[in-house]
Amino acid sequence: MMKLLSMTIAAIVLEVCYAHLCMISPPQRGAMGNLNKAGSGDCLLTAPRCGNRPRGMPVMGLQRGQNFTVSIQKNLDHYVKDTPGSFTISIGSERGGTKLDVLATIPDGGEPSLTIYSVNVTIPRDLEMREYIIHSAYITNNPQAPPEFFQCSDVMIHA
Ligand SMILES: *[C@@H]1O[C@H](CO)[C@@H](O)[C@H](O)[C@H]1NC(C)=O
Ligand SMILES: *[C@@H]1O[C@H](CO)[C@@H](O)[C@H](O)[C@H]1NC(C)=O
Repeated sequence: MMKLLSMTIAAIVLEVCYAHLCMISPPQRGAMGNLNKAGSGDCLLTAPRCGNRPRGMPVMGLQRGQNFTVSIQKNLDHYVKDTPGSFTISIGSERGGTKLDVLATIPDGGEPSLTIYSVNVTIPRDLEMREYIIHSAYITNNPQAPPEFFQCSDVMIHA
């Protein structure tokens, strides 16, 4: 009982210390709960590349050459003034290698937890017509936090 309690406390402490990332548009894989609260478990994915969330059905179609607004949430801030981090938005495939093409980079300006960042990206014209992932990362650059947080969204590219 004591052990369980101390593990729970340790988990809560870790939860509070971590920076978190959620991707709202396109919607991330799996659940996206409690976005109004800093420290949502659905925004705490640290395993490359997709936080161990399994691939799902494509949630939307995107056209080659299309402009699209990606929205992500800094669910929990872990900004360090001397070594500010950043967010990246990339596109990649789970077939044919692990290459991710960065479409946009957003600097972490120390905005508070729950800030939503939106950025316009252009879907590359040279993609094949099949499933891809829109990938977002929060690179914390904070030695007290995990180096990166990840989210993936499954999309279908069409002509
Ligand atoms: C996408 O945005 C770019 C940069 O703002 C613009 O030059 C281009 O015409 C837009 N493309 C489409 C298909 O709307
Ligand atoms: C994205 O593009 C749209 C359409 O051109 C524009 O209205 C909007 O302000 C842009 N958003 C950002 C975050 O740049």
